[in-house]
Amino acid sequence: MGKDVIIACDFDSAEKTYDFLGRFGEDKPFVKIGMELYYAEGPEIIRGIKERGHRIFLDLKLHDIPNTVKKAMKVLAGLGVDIVNVHASGTVKMMKAAVEGLEEGSNGKRPLIIAVTQLTSTDEEQMREDLLIRESMNDVVMHYAANARDAGLDGVVCSPHEAADVHRVCGIDFLTVTPGIRFAGDSRGDQSRIMTPEKAKGAGSDYIVVGRSVTAAEDPAAAYERCIREFIG
Ligand code: C5P
Repeated sequence: MGKDVIIACDFDSAEKTYDFLGRFGEDKPFVKIGMELYYAEGPEIIRGIKERGHRIFLDLKLHDIPNTVKKAMKVLAGLGVDIVNVHASGTVKMMKAAVEGLEEGSNGKRPLIIAVTQLTSTDEEQMREDLLIRESMNDVVMHYAANARDAGLDGVVCSPHEAADVHRVCGIDFLTVTPGIRFAGDSRGDQSRIMTPEKAKGAGSDYIVVGRSVTAAEDPAAAYERCIREFIG
C-alpha cells in the first residue's frame, strides 16, 4: 500500500471545489469529501470529481443499525469512491454489515473502508461524563481499532500520534489515515494534537489528510507539493 496525501476539500459548494481543484493543473490529488459538500451537492459532486480523474475518500462516518448501514454502503460503493468510513462505536456487527454492503455494491474491487475510533474533538472527561466510558483514550482507540480489524475493515482514521500503536496492535498492513497535519510554523486552528507531514511519515501514517494547510494556502499546488515532498520524499 503506497503512502499518499489526501486533501480535505472542506468547501460548501461544487463551484468552490472545482475552482480549487482547477489550481492543480495536470496534477490530480487524492481528495476527501465530507458531509458539508456531499449534503450540499449530492452524488453529482462525486461523479464530477471522479470524471476529473481524482481518487476520493468519501468521509460520511456512517453510524446506524447494521441493516441500514449495509444498504447505504451498497449505494456508496456504486459511486465508485476509493475510501469510505463508519464509526467503530456502531459495533463489530455494524462494521461487518458495512463491508458486506460494499462488497454487494461494488463492481469487482470494493472501496477501502476505515473506522473512526474516538473523534479527536472528544476528550477523556467527555468520554467519562457523557458516554460513561472509564478507560483511557488510548485503550479505547486501540480497542476500537482492533474491533475494526476483526470486522474486516482496512484501517482507521486516527491521530498521527496513535499510528504506531495502531500498527502494533492491528498489524503493519492495517491502514492509518491521519488528519491533524500542519507545516512547521503554521497556525493549528482548532486542532489540538498536530504533526508535520515529515513527522507523520516517521510515525508510520499511511495516508495524511491535510485541509487548511493546503486549501487556505496562497499557492495550494505548492503547499500540496510540499506535503508530498515531506511525507513521501
Ligand atoms: O483543516 P484541517 O487540516 O484541520 O482538516 C482536517 C480534516 O480532517 C477535516 O476535514 C476534518 O473534519 C477531518 N478530521 C479531523 N479529525 C478527525 C477526523 C477527521 O480533523 N479525527
